[in-house]
Amino acid sequence: MKTKQLDSQYIAHTYARFPVEIVEGKGSLLKDDTGKEYIDLGSGIAVNIFGMQDETWKAAVEAQLDKFQHTSNLYFTAPCAELAQLLCEKTGMKKVFFSNSGAEANECAIKAARKYGETRHGKDCYTIITLVNSFHGRTITTLAATGQDHYHEDFQPLTPGFVYAEANNLESVRKLVAENKVCAVMFEAIQGEGGVIALDKSFLQGLAQIAREQDILLIADEVQCGNGRSGKLYAYMAAGIEPDIVTTAKGLGGGLPLGATLFGAKTENVYTPGLHGSTFGGNPVCCAGAISILSRLDDALLASVREKSDYVFRALLDAPGVESVTGMGLMIGVKPKNRTAAEVAAACREAGVLVLTAKDKVRLLPALNIPAEQLQKAVAVLIAACGT
Ligand SMILES: Cc1ncc(COP(=O)(O)O)c(C=O)c1O
Repeated sequence: MKTKQLDSQYIAHTYARFPVEIVEGKGSLLKDDTGKEYIDLGSGIAVNIFGMQDETWKAAVEAQLDKFQHTSNLYFTAPCAELAQLLCEKTGMKKVFFSNSGAEANECAIKAARKYGETRHGKDCYTIITLVNSFHGRTITTLAATGQDHYHEDFQPLTPGFVYAEANNLESVRKLVAENKVCAVMFEAIQGEGGVIALDKSFLQGLAQIAREQDILLIADEVQCGNGRSGKLYAYMAAGIEPDIVTTAKGLGGGLPLGATLFGAKTENVYTPGLHGSTFGGNPVCCAGAISILSRLDDALLASVREKSDYVFRALLDAPGVESVTGMGLMIGVKPKNRTAAEVAAACREAGVLVLTAKDKVRLLPALNIPAEQLQKAVAVLIAACGT
């Protein structure tokens, strides 16, 4: 009770928390302050991709803590440089800027796109196309990038220079390109907060073609859908496209705050000294942990994500209380037939399974290494919670 009282008294009321205090966790099993156990299908909103207290990640973090915890970006540090190398080798991107969160990774991408537009096409080339129903963060600029009006209402005026195209509608993109001086188009290959919706492959390919033809940068926001969650290392890879900028965070740090903005051949030299920076970005402890995460996201792990995904999709599509199942890999949205997502989440919690919601969907973002039997048990609880 003490924590809940302190939280209510001293923490700004921005979160409608679930009524659970987590005190312990191992893998995908969590325990609350009453000793009740849960199977976790949320992994801290796609962060703990190898679950709680993952031994390999812990060893990497502890080994770095035994050396030094922070230097600032005034000095060279090995974990930061080695993680950047790994990210580039695995993606074909050329350079990386590290920050601390998804919103910061996107801010960095947006600034780079403006700089690119200005340099290539003049001062008025700063408009960025994002998609209706997208989510890109909570800062004033990433809120402006977010294509959902209700996030905008209380914070006017937002950063200017964002226009919103309809997802899966290339005509809507072409129209905005014709009407504005556009420097970039930014998308989530799987919209997360918007309701776990995978964009059509053909739309992503068309977007890439428009971007290439018009010298517009293609920015993939892989904050939520990246780092193996989709069954590909990054979700855009399923469409065979090559973005000019990729942003990621969440799962990359495996539980410590880390954001990354990756630059391709067109954008690798946009930033020059003094144009961007971060005190904590590329923190050696976070980066050491991230190397231990990223280096395990290999073909075998990705194949196991796809296998688990197939199982969950099959089981849920057969369930009488489920209207639809969307998403990709282990990023899954479940629309219940006769109950709200919040009702289903509460029933799951009661029965010892933690799920998330997104719009009218129950959202599943389990750890990528969740054991099959825990996943099966949790899916059975979810099916029961969806009713008939
Ligand atoms: C696609 C996407 N972009 C950006 C963000 C913002 O990330 P953060 O909360 O780490 O700032 C999120 C967070 O949910 C996200 O899902």
